[in-house]
Amino acid sequence: MSKYTRVYGTHDILPKEAERWRGVEGVIHDFMELHGYGEIRTPIFENTELFSRGIGSETDIVSKEMYTWEDTNKQSLTLKPELTAPVVRAFVEHHIGRQTPISRLYYLDALFRRDRPQKGRQRQFHQFGLEAFGSAHPEQDAEVISMAYKIFDTFGIEELNLQVNSIGSSEVRPAYLKILREALQPHITEFCDTCQTRLDRNALRLFDCKSKTCQKLLDAHAPVIIDHITEEDRVHFDQVLEYLTLLNIPFTQNNKMVRGLDYYSRTTFEITSSAIGAQDALCGGGRYDGLVEQIGGKPTPAVGFAAGLERLLLAMGEAEDEPESLTDIYFLILGDKSRGQALITADQLRREKGLRVIVETMRRSMKAQMREANRQKAQYTIIMGDDEFDREVAIVKDMAQGEQHEIPLDALTDQFQVGSECGCCENDKHPEED
Ligand code: HAM
Repeated sequence: MSKYTRVYGTHDILPKEAERWRGVEGVIHDFMELHGYGEIRTPIFENTELFSRGIGSETDIVSKEMYTWEDTNKQSLTLKPELTAPVVRAFVEHHIGRQTPISRLYYLDALFRRDRPQKGRQRQFHQFGLEAFGSAHPEQDAEVISMAYKIFDTFGIEELNLQVNSIGSSEVRPAYLKILREALQPHITEFCDTCQTRLDRNALRLFDCKSKTCQKLLDAHAPVIIDHITEEDRVHFDQVLEYLTLLNIPFTQNNKMVRGLDYYSRTTFEITSSAIGAQDALCGGGRYDGLVEQIGGKPTPAVGFAAGLERLLLAMGEAEDEPESLTDIYFLILGDKSRGQALITADQLRREKGLRVIVETMRRSMKAQMREANRQKAQYTIIMGDDEFDREVAIVKDMAQGEQHEIPLDALTDQFQVGSECGCCENDKHPEED
């Protein structure tokens, strides 16, 4: 047992798994760029206030889940628990909106929430997502929602369920919250302690409660916000739904879905899949027309989504195929004299031919080195002992065919092409036979 283990709720990504991550990340980068979104990377920590004000102090994220500490200068800092507020902060700080009326940004990043770990829920996890700034029009919502849906479709995820709602513009909120409070007040003692304290402070957050009792009480007594939105909000939402229908994106309306962050206005949505168990939310997002101004920028409408990368990988299932070999050449060394030369030649092969070369550094027996080359699934081995070093040659062995040839050192690099085809073995012809 190691003296130190990873922190509860965090994961190591080992090479085989990392290869799978890289493949998925590559598809996400291509997909985003295909839609005109440019990548943004923000720092791993920010001023705490950005989140407490941006996301809302009564949300689960801010009230329970942030990793916050006081720095030496008494500044309160927080590991980012979500990426929308940092992206908005960067959008405002770099005056990105001044360069173009519509800015499309995407990200793929790590974040941190002190949530209760379980399958599909970690304390350090990764999200990919996007934020589109500048358009208040429903076609922008439809673009964002359809991109979220299509990307899961691209990865072949089944049993997708897209739920949409409108919580109306922020102006309707005070009147609705008053109605909500009045409706729930007579039953408040039946709610959990958190809900009881939230009723006065931020009643919308009662909908985030995971307690079945609270959810049942809400079903029975809470008016839904969509019945209290303005005519303009309604027209906007209907148009979003129309565009989704046009794009053949299947959806259901869920009038209870308000999403667990305070910044949303109008459209909210979530995509779930029953294929991944209890933590079935693959992605969530919505419109947040007030956040840019709240963070100090000019009023700018915006809409976006974020999706859990670990959950996407979970939904994709275990990789069935054996991963491809990562090694083109394993360099066996059988004598002290050849060690330096092996390092030089290996570097030449990497630099000039782009080949993946591993050099033996354990000083093992020939048999053990050969076993290692097989374990690494190397296509070729290069063998160099003191005798070969003295004669300025090396032995190249094609591991699949079992053939081997002696090649002069100065001709060795040219024997290999990218894709690790060895000239002498391919042609079954030794250069010295000429
Ligand atoms: P969110 O719903 O908090 O939204 O998170 C989005 C997604 O991140 C979830 O649907 C889930 O897939 C994943 N996720 C959340 N928490 C965890 C966790 N502890 N472990 C693993 N995966 C997790 C946001 O973060 C908003 N910023 C989305 C957004 C972007 N809205 C507008 N733009």
